[in-house]
Amino acid sequence: MTSRARPWIEAFAPATVSNLGPGFDCLGLALRARGDVVRARWREAPGVELLRITGDGGKLSRDATLNTAAVAATALLQRWAPNAGVELELDKGLPLGSGLGSSGASAAAAVVAVDAALELGLPAVALVEAARAGEAAACGAGHPDNVAPSILGGIVLVPSLDPLRLVSLPVPPSMWLAVYTPGCSLPTAEARAVLPRMVELAAVVQQAARLGFLVHALHEGDLAMLGEAIVDDIVEPARAGLIPGYLEAKAACCEAGALACSISGAGPTTFALSSDRGRAEALLRLLDEAFVAVGVGGTGFVDQVGQGARVTSDVLH
Ligand code: HSE
Repeated sequence: MTSRARPWIEAFAPATVSNLGPGFDCLGLALRARGDVVRARWREAPGVELLRITGDGGKLSRDATLNTAAVAATALLQRWAPNAGVELELDKGLPLGSGLGSSGASAAAAVVAVDAALELGLPAVALVEAARAGEAAACGAGHPDNVAPSILGGIVLVPSLDPLRLVSLPVPPSMWLAVYTPGCSLPTAEARAVLPRMVELAAVVQQAARLGFLVHALHEGDLAMLGEAIVDDIVEPARAGLIPGYLEAKAACCEAGALACSISGAGPTTFALSSDRGRAEALLRLLDEAFVAVGVGGTGFVDQVGQGARVTSDVLH
């Protein structure tokens, strides 16, 4: 028996839309409405134990060396509290392999919960660094464009990995997204395997110019300009064929006046950009029609850019 109180600390981390066209692996935004929850509490024995997972349909491993949340928590302890131990519980609110930053949200919620449970008070950059380890466990690449916005909230650019730099960009106030997840899963590793290893210099120049334009549009708060910048001639063409109905859905949205339409993260979730809620809801209906028409109807929602991961309650068991 230990005399130390062991409250469960619960943290929520939001879903994310990453890449945003030209920002492959370095740009993403946090959504408001959906996310994952992790509870953490101190334990006497060093290391991480994942006691329970809900909402995953039994698909995720509880092995602490394999599970995204546990791997992220372990990375945090190894670097900042090597003799400490924690127990975790994970509630999956996000579908797996969806392109909504599901593994990133688990990792983000885990590091925020563990940081609070152990009263470490770490800066965001340390939390993102640890969460990247969880992302690497999930899909073989520690890309930061989901975990960074999931932890910081808003729209985040990651201009450098070593040292890790995080840049929060301005969020246009009337920015609405229709976010639709077709009824087909696309593991991130599979969506990364189809990417070209080499890219023509002219395409790199175009992509760099669009990313610069996108950052400028955010600073201007100009949604039409933002939509013009959300174009990707490198990654999207390689992945479009993996998502049944994607090109038809995008064509329908663009014809109906969407400011932009692209793949969220590695897909298959598809997002469309709008300047008001009503139009975003109309775009969501078009996305649904297009994906249903090819037999992969799914679910969607309209949302805005939201806050990052946070402690939501302290529950004494
Ligand atoms: N930037 C990553 C990719 C996000 O597109 O593969 C995956 O979640």
